Amino acid sequence: MAVDLENLVSQMTLSEKAALCTGASRWTTTPLQHLGIPELLCADGPHGLRRLPDINAVGSASLPATAFPTASCLASSWDVELVDQVAQALAEECIAQHVDMLLGPGVNMKRSPLGGRNFEYFSEDPFLSGEMAVHYINSLQARGIGTSLKHFAANNQEYQRFNISAEIDERTLREIYLPAFERAVKEAQPWSVMCSYNKVNGLLASQHGYLLNDILKQEWGFEGLVVSDWGAVRERVAALRGGLDWEMPGPMPRRVNALVAAVRSGELDEALLNESVRRILRIVFKAHETPKGGDFDVEAHHRLAQKAASEGMVLLKNNGILPLKTPQHIAVIGRAAEQAHFQGRGSSFINPTRVAVPFNELQARAGAAELTYAEGYPTDNSFNQELIDQAVAQAKTADVAILYIALPGFKESEGYDRQDLDLTAQQVALIQAVSQVQPNSVVVLNNGAPVLMGAWLDGVAAVLEAYMMGQAGGAAVADILFGRANPSGKLAETFPLKLEDVPAQGNWPGNLGAVHYGERLYIGYRYYDLKHMPVLFPFGYGLSYTTFAYSSARASASIFKDVDGLTVSVDVTNTGALAGKEIVQVYVHDLAASLDRPYKELKGFAKLELQPGETKTVSIRLNFRAFAFYNPRYRQWITENGQFDILIGASSADIRQTLSVTLQSSVELPCILDRESSLVEWLEDPRGRQVLGGLYDEIEVGLGKYYGGGRIGNYMEMIKNNPLYTVLIRAEKFLSKNADELLAEFLEQVHKLP
Ligand code: BGC
Repeated sequence: MAVDLENLVSQMTLSEKAALCTGASRWTTTPLQHLGIPELLCADGPHGLRRLPDINAVGSASLPATAFPTASCLASSWDVELVDQVAQALAEECIAQHVDMLLGPGVNMKRSPLGGRNFEYFSEDPFLSGEMAVHYINSLQARGIGTSLKHFAANNQEYQRFNISAEIDERTLREIYLPAFERAVKEAQPWSVMCSYNKVNGLLASQHGYLLNDILKQEWGFEGLVVSDWGAVRERVAALRGGLDWEMPGPMPRRVNALVAAVRSGELDEALLNESVRRILRIVFKAHETPKGGDFDVEAHHRLAQKAASEGMVLLKNNGILPLKTPQHIAVIGRAAEQAHFQGRGSSFINPTRVAVPFNELQARAGAAELTYAEGYPTDNSFNQELIDQAVAQAKTADVAILYIALPGFKESEGYDRQDLDLTAQQVALIQAVSQVQPNSVVVLNNGAPVLMGAWLDGVAAVLEAYMMGQAGGAAVADILFGRANPSGKLAETFPLKLEDVPAQGNWPGNLGAVHYGERLYIGYRYYDLKHMPVLFPFGYGLSYTTFAYSSARASASIFKDVDGLTVSVDVTNTGALAGKEIVQVYVHDLAASLDRPYKELKGFAKLELQPGETKTVSIRLNFRAFAFYNPRYRQWITENGQFDILIGASSADIRQTLSVTLQSSVELPCILDRESSLVEWLEDPRGRQVLGGLYDEIEVGLGKYYGGGRIGNYMEMIKNNPLYTVLIRAEKFLSKNADELLAEFLEQVHKLP
């Protein structure tokens, strides 16, 4: 039955409205029984449900739920159907545990690999993050469970996370930090968006009218409610005015009173409060439509978590040792073999339904082989040579050593950033010592973000990046090592060679309350492309036990209109002996633009499964936005006529096919010429050129003579970027009118032209 919201709002008292805009508990909205308004219950995600049995308790254990791989790992699967399935399972667990809305996904960009919460975020690339989020949200919401897209916006570090101001220019914000949110909102309409703790350009995200009202609600058409991150609100009235509908957590009678008082005193227009009330009510009633209760299939979800882990892990190095042939003696080294490290610390911490112990999973697949175990490194940051010696002794006599290396929680967690990209000193020494006596050493990494490997990579036979692999990851690792699964993940982030290479270094983590995003658009591979800088492992990279060939790339047109977009196709063949999956990536390279652009940007991808010898055709659609950039002067996304290369590759550094196409822009720009516009800007603007008419030649000839005599090589080259006004001043001597009169006339004429 449809609820008459207007009628309901008209029956609510001012205090009831204010109460609805504030949480009733840590996880619920305020119910109003006499009006038939139920409560909405939310719980943390994103990669599993953290439903606390007592909604007011802080720090108690949550109900058992499936811990899926965290976002870094899930994104490396590049598998949107898998994301659909994981989100479906999350919805089923929400339904079983009476949860209406899951607090996820997180789509912030990995500006620096040092970011403490990177494990909860998908990628350094906005397109990949956006794709993941659209599927995650649509799949959950199709089952009647809401999502909360977070953290809006620019939550890219943990240092001073409650008040640091992310200083970002408009273009960088639009092209890097907002697009994943934008796509998710436009294509999936999350029930809620969670604001971030930090400030953006000086203003708290919780009261950021430009971000919340102008961009999110107006420009993108967001229909859901904006919720604060837990404890992000400073001034309740300013936040409501700025677009924040629901403050969390509650109860907070003080805040309710503040809203009531502000309306009574005339400081706050009640219409604004009503608008927030409507947004919240719409979601509360929508949530109520989904019947809750029952069980979820613990076994099936565990199996899905295993599949997700197996698709997301990335094989970084393999000298041929993997898949393991039939070793008789395997030295299993590292505490993470016994104590699986499969999730990160903080609000996303899950109480798993069960845990696949990596050692046991190996044993189960190792047949008659003997497995020994050595702890290898302590839980803390101390150095223990004895543990290394034990491991070395076992590795020496084995056929192969498998080192399970987990980056400890004290080095990586929500709440603080990483200080470096290193493993612990003990872990590095352990890998070095073991690989020295055992050339068949395989390193399995459990971490949420890139680590450096220069100190030991050459010495080991193989490296599997298993990330924070979820509760079933131990089984996925064993499957990959023994070849029961063919690895198919590819990195959703760049692994740098050293910390100094990271684009944000020098502007990280900020000081005096602000962090300047000085690298602008150039994060991740965009930066390494710009600098032609070698990396440890590039974005989009990952090995398989088979090989793939790309051929016959083609585009639906060689000359196309931006609004029509383009379809590019390529044939991919499995040229190896094993079935496997390939992730085909499509990047766009703009050959010339009026503003600087990253050399290439990911604009499409597909994952496909191929039997040995099989060929499939991949077709990828590129729309207007695949070619556009944001022009902050015009405050809009624009395209420009010209040539683009479409780069089709197996990674950002392994382009296999290139297509050249020509774009015809349909963008009509308003004239923004003013007193400061340069000569070039006048000439590049069609109306400006028309108004200047033959004057350019006059200036060229006149000034050329005046300053001639070979004193200056190319006079026009020297002055073309000067304001037209200063050019006219110099040319006054041979012009009929003075510079002020002329410029005034030009400006009047140019703004009259259609
Ligand atoms: C985190 C959010 C989380 C919320 C509720 C905050 O500290 O930043 O991601 O959803 O707590 O636990």
